[in-house]
Amino acid sequence: MLICPACLPQERPLEISVSKEDNGDIITAVLSCRKCRKRYQIRDGIAVLTPDPEAGTSGGQWKYEEAGTVDRYLWSHYADLIKAADAGNAYAAWAELLAPRNQNSFDAGCAVGRLTFEMSTRSELAIGCDLSPSFIRAARRLSKERSVSFSLQLEGNLREKFCLELPDTWHPDRVEFIVADAMALPFASGSFQQVASLNLIDRVRYPLAHLFDINRIAGIKNASFLFSDPFSWSTANTPEELWLGGKHDGPYSGRGIDNVREVLCGKQKIISPSWRITGQGSVDWRLRSHRNHFEMIRSEYLTAER
Ligand SMILES: C[S@@+](CC[C@H](N)C(=O)[O-])C[C@H]1O[C@@H](n2cnc3c(N)ncnc32)[C@H](O)[C@@H]1O
Repeated sequence: MLICPACLPQERPLEISVSKEDNGDIITAVLSCRKCRKRYQIRDGIAVLTPDPEAGTSGGQWKYEEAGTVDRYLWSHYADLIKAADAGNAYAAWAELLAPRNQNSFDAGCAVGRLTFEMSTRSELAIGCDLSPSFIRAARRLSKERSVSFSLQLEGNLREKFCLELPDTWHPDRVEFIVADAMALPFASGSFQQVASLNLIDRVRYPLAHLFDINRIAGIKNASFLFSDPFSWSTANTPEELWLGGKHDGPYSGRGIDNVREVLCGKQKIISPSWRITGQGSVDWRLRSHRNHFEMIRSEYLTAER
């Protein structure tokens, strides 16, 4: 399934040299491309498969590496499972929109992994990718240990502790988390029957490249796509000329959800084969700052099939 992300649009397989393995789980290895000679490391069980693995954090991405952000996302993704006060049900709502059964699923910009784990209850293999090493480390740790403790600000210097255990019905053994770029995905065309992109398109540098690439790795038939975003366009992440909405004029002016729907439906043949939209709506998603302070984000979704 894995290909060299630096050689895209050519799809060149990677060769692996394993130095440490634990019960079928590759802990330390090098993946290399024979053609461009790039080497991608697997360390502590995490493959870093970005086109330039040595590049540092850029754009608005630094904020995901700040202290406390992983814990805030753990609360956001899993608060309903631990029955925390004020938990929302956003991820359960998104999970309901996934196809009930398929072989391979992919979650782009998975953060700490909730949707990827949800996919594992419907798929043989679920892969989550994110550019943030901190998020991917937390997600992998959860998949290995099935539990995690974290704390958030209660008020001032007071903290509140949370202990999360994954439900028995989930299958962390079917889940993989990798560091990869949603604009240059290290997978062969047609590798997944279910793909998802949640709250990501307004965070990437080139939104159309993300849609193009997630479309490439989805099957050309019997495939489902779950897309959702609040369209919080910002020049910190994306140059204005590349926004897919939120502009008065020029290409992709108007509303992001309308433009994404048109692209998926085959406008200008950017995406092929085109998708059939099967649902549209919104999910309210919450991030907590402290006990009495929350951010509520309305994310507009589309479900599509082909
Ligand atoms: C707003 S968060 C949403 C996370 C998750 N999908 C959710 O809905 O909870 C955006 C995520 O996208 C990740 N991200 C940003 N740019 C990315 C890229 N080019 N490739 C992969 N992940 C990216 C960030 O690290 C962050 O985890």
